Amino acid sequence: MAADRTIDANGKYVFPGGVDPHVHLDLPFMGTFSSDNYETGTRAALFGGTTTVIDFAIQVQGNSLYSAVEEWNKKSEGNAYGDYSYHLAVTDFNPKTRPEVKNLIEKEGITSFKTFMAYKGALMIDDGQMVGLMREVKEHGGMVTVHATNGDMIDHLVAKHKAEGKLAPLYHYLSQPEITEAEASGRFIDMAYYTDVPAYIVHLTCEGALNKVRDAARRNQKVFVETCVQYLLLDASLYEREGFEGAKWVMSPPLRKKKDRETLWAGLNQGLVNVVGTDHCPFFMKQKRMGEDDFSKIPNGHPAIEHRLELLFSEGVRKGRISMNKLVEVTAANPAKIFGMFPKKGTIAVGSDADIVIFDPETTHTLSARTHHHNCDYSGYEGWEVTGKCRTVLLRGRVAIENNDIHIPKGYGRFIRRSHCSKVV
Ligand code: URP
Ligand code: ZN
Ligand code: ZN
Repeated sequence: MAADRTIDANGKYVFPGGVDPHVHLDLPFMGTFSSDNYETGTRAALFGGTTTVIDFAIQVQGNSLYSAVEEWNKKSEGNAYGDYSYHLAVTDFNPKTRPEVKNLIEKEGITSFKTFMAYKGALMIDDGQMVGLMREVKEHGGMVTVHATNGDMIDHLVAKHKAEGKLAPLYHYLSQPEITEAEASGRFIDMAYYTDVPAYIVHLTCEGALNKVRDAARRNQKVFVETCVQYLLLDASLYEREGFEGAKWVMSPPLRKKKDRETLWAGLNQGLVNVVGTDHCPFFMKQKRMGEDDFSKIPNGHPAIEHRLELLFSEGVRKGRISMNKLVEVTAANPAKIFGMFPKKGTIAVGSDADIVIFDPETTHTLSARTHHHNCDYSGYEGWEVTGKCRTVLLRGRVAIENNDIHIPKGYGRFIRRSHCSKVV
């Protein structure tokens, strides 16, 4: 069959379209909403070579799981440029919500279930609910994912710092020490071992938590691990910036120490860290200022969806920290496999979706809020020079990005029904 058009990729790399399994679009959170919605967020993702995102449909405590899906469909339908799916974030697991798990997996193609071990009173579930959910998800072939930090310990430290009048963004970091993440990761891993459910830790940041995964491997347990690009590239010294500037990087878990970055790069090469996402959850500085006098009121999250591939290429591949194959594995193939979208997504093959990135490895450009496509007035990487640029991006065979412009209409993005999650990659 003759092609309608030939695209010259001479001198460029050709990658499968990226799959970012950790984004928050239009998320109601901490008294406000994340500032990228399905329109702006999936468009920014496409500019950065990410053709599919998995967002979190978040159950409101007391409501059903299905009501979260309905709520998220209102946000996404007709608005997305890029393809998308949802993890179902279970914040209230009880006899009423239990039967919904089977239907979500079998009827809706929503096969992964997110849990929070922190954010008590809003998102956190206790260990009893966790084990109950794990049993149910295991029975129907799904996966349980987790934000693994010890919510009670963190709440204690937040209250302590506030009582001492320590209210600056730095105390967000100091309220979530490494041990809070290591402890919760270990507890989650043990519960997953006991129930034998496929398990995945989102946004893992530190040595202590990765060592729990390492320990689990000694009893032949596989726990999938995602880190995010900011934990590989940035560190907690940013919280010491003048005035309120540190708020730009207030996220949970917080940025860690340089030794943790080294652990994560090593973990990628050791096959312990399987995915690099973004946890894209942007807020304007005006929103961040809700916590100007109290770090615990700063909305958690930062913009990143557009920069994942270019930063990982520039800082990872070009600097010899990871191979080109590893880049494709952790940004496309692995998330597609783990979350039941492979080989439709995450590869270039006959019968796959023809989500393709043509990547120029030589162009150097500067990241800035003036030029990024995030709906956010600051960049966590302002002034960073990166080498490598997504030139042309195809989504399902159609040119979506070319000449720094978008060529598909809003609403082109589709919901992707997923198959059972994979225990192997
Ligand atoms: O700071 C973050 N990560 N905000 C989004 C919610 C979450 O915990 O992933
Ligand atoms: Zn989280
Ligand atoms: Zn998140």
